[in-house]
Amino acid sequence: MQNIITYKKIGHIALVTINNPPVNAMDFKTRLALSDAIDQLNSDNKIKAAVLICEGRTFIAGADISEFDNLPFKDPWLPDVVQKIEDANKPVIAAIHGSALGGGLEIAMGCHFRCAVPSAKLGLPEVTLGLLPGATGTQRLPRLIGVDKALDMMLTGKPINAKQAIEEGLIDKIIEDELQEGAIAFAKEILEKQIPIRRLSKTKIDKTNVTTELFEKYRQRNNKTACGFFAPEKIIQCVEAAVDLPYPESLQVEDNLFMECLNSDHSRGQRHLFFAEREIARIPDVPKDTAIRNINRVAIIGAGTMGGGIAMNFLQANIPVTLLEIDQEGLQRGIDIIRSNYAGQVKKGRMEQTHMDQYMELLSGSTAFDNISDVDLVIEAVFENMEIKKEVFKKLDQVCKPGAILASNTSTLDLDVIANYTKRPEDVIGLHFFAPANIMPLLEIVRGKKTTKDVIATAFKLSRSIRKVGVLAGVCFGFIGNRMFLPYVREAELMMLEGVSAERIDRVACNWGMAMGPHAVTDLSGQDVFFKIVDGWKDHPDDPAFFRVCKALFELERYGQKTSKGKYIYEGRKAISDPKVANIAQQEAEKLGIEQREISDDEIIKRLLCAMINEGALILEEGIAIRSGDIDVIYANGYGLPRYRGGPMFYADLIGLKQVYDDINEFRDRYGNRYWTPAPLLEQLAKQGKTFSEWSQHK
Ligand code: CAA
Repeated sequence: MQNIITYKKIGHIALVTINNPPVNAMDFKTRLALSDAIDQLNSDNKIKAAVLICEGRTFIAGADISEFDNLPFKDPWLPDVVQKIEDANKPVIAAIHGSALGGGLEIAMGCHFRCAVPSAKLGLPEVTLGLLPGATGTQRLPRLIGVDKALDMMLTGKPINAKQAIEEGLIDKIIEDELQEGAIAFAKEILEKQIPIRRLSKTKIDKTNVTTELFEKYRQRNNKTACGFFAPEKIIQCVEAAVDLPYPESLQVEDNLFMECLNSDHSRGQRHLFFAEREIARIPDVPKDTAIRNINRVAIIGAGTMGGGIAMNFLQANIPVTLLEIDQEGLQRGIDIIRSNYAGQVKKGRMEQTHMDQYMELLSGSTAFDNISDVDLVIEAVFENMEIKKEVFKKLDQVCKPGAILASNTSTLDLDVIANYTKRPEDVIGLHFFAPANIMPLLEIVRGKKTTKDVIATAFKLSRSIRKVGVLAGVCFGFIGNRMFLPYVREAELMMLEGVSAERIDRVACNWGMAMGPHAVTDLSGQDVFFKIVDGWKDHPDDPAFFRVCKALFELERYGQKTSKGKYIYEGRKAISDPKVANIAQQEAEKLGIEQREISDDEIIKRLLCAMINEGALILEEGIAIRSGDIDVIYANGYGLPRYRGGPMFYADLIGLKQVYDDINEFRDRYGNRYWTPAPLLEQLAKQGKTFSEWSQHK
């Protein structure tokens, strides 16, 4: 086994190289070895300066996040290592390639100088894990690049490139050629020119323009972009301390607030998602080295909003797309919508005109199936109707070349039935995009009974190429996401019949953290769309109260935002409550003999979440989802569930499955067992005192 750290002398320069694959994370062993290397450096009288560099694909990507659940940290903990580097008795130069992130950048800031290759990325992304840069980052970054820029970098968590880093003073030099050689030459230059060592902890913060208003500006931005998250405010407090207090005292503030963040449920949830999002592509029976099919040309059937949105993903990944519609008028309309979407982005300064031109060049249109005979992938995005899909897939089977992947964007229909309209069901897969398809990151990859492994592996590779978060689902009504969303909306609807207003239910859901309440979501998608989905569901519950308000609104042609009236009335996109809707719900309740009752906010949120979690447990048990983490990733990326909750299944694990089970039993006692029979898996785990995560790992 190779050493984690090697110490090599090149003339008067020591080359300290870290080799801890895959990303040189600062786990205990690496911290210890680096600390020892600094001891060696200090006592090495022949050495005048050191270069700290990494093997492999990147500089240090941060602390080892997997150690955060095993407190206390083993000494030396990272801030001590950073300080030890800074205290070294000769210049230390960080040589950065790949990414210097979190604890990695903090180590680099402990060094006295920093150089990087042009492609390097540097950032403090801890906020995305519900943390703050707790290895002195909140104290050193403001000293290095100023308070304003430091707050911006730490609160967005977004890395910057080497060019920006040199402009902002985060690095001292860009090395255009070979990094190791360049860094050693830089070290020699520092020695020759006797450039003084800069120890950031001893540097004063530039307080020009640092006012209360500056901090207020970031607090207000947090309210808009990170409302409900715990860590962002703590980052601001650390920087305030850095400005107001002597270094040792403000460091203590950082340490205390870091531990508060680390122990918060928010950070637990965000860390869970970090690992879950990296696990999704591990499919037990699809080996990592499964050969994949080349996707060089794509066709999209249907130039409506969905088809157009899907096409944009491929264009932006430089993959040519043919959009297919039944008539020229529809085709032109679809192409015009794509063009105007891009033009809007150019106007807002979010896209270069040259990029737009390049994407439009890659787009072609056709009204003839024969013109797509050479594509490698077809995605059908026509109306959600089995008869129409049947015709499309029969046609695709006739015209597409052997080996082409035939995908459906269906959100609820039976993929196996669709696949059997072709003579090659093994090439058929579901690629379920979420509206707006060019923006929402989620992609449900639906595996049919006969879908082959290489088609699945290709779909995962493709999801990364088009920057989507692909999650595998099995075939059932609504797959994972929509199948769980239906019980959630069902309860939101039933509570309206019991006398709770749509706006109150939405407010409670949003207070819990949802980006939008369930009623606002159904207005956005359309009451007509929801009604048709549940009405067309062959196994829908035999219950006259099921989606009753939705049905009444549908009959009144109150479809939601598109008709300016639904569960709310709309002025533009602004929702305004409409007392008529509560009356409609009350009239429907009277017809059904449903009593009006007082329902607490606590019960509202429990009913919404328990309904969703119970369905999630069934989905796990049936093997529709591989792991509970996959479900969480779906909800964090496609349904507006706040990342700090970690997803519905993680939330259930956190509050305890016994609690969820007891709540469901309480609802069963009150409302009967039609909707409130605890899923057998939930019952089993609740009784065993286990979690969905544990079950997923050991099943
Ligand atoms: N700790 C532990 N494991 C990590 C890790 C970290 N900081 N960063 C990445 N990994 C693991 C991943 O889980 C993954 O493991 P598997 O292969 O077993 O799934 C593996 O390294 C490769 O990661 P990616 O698949 O993400 O690789 P990539 O090439 O796509 O991306 C990366 C590389 C940009 C470095 C990305 O991994 C990344 O963003 N990592 C996290 C960076 C981060 O958040 N750092 C801050 C940590 S918190 C901190 O440092 C606290 C502090 O201030 C004290």
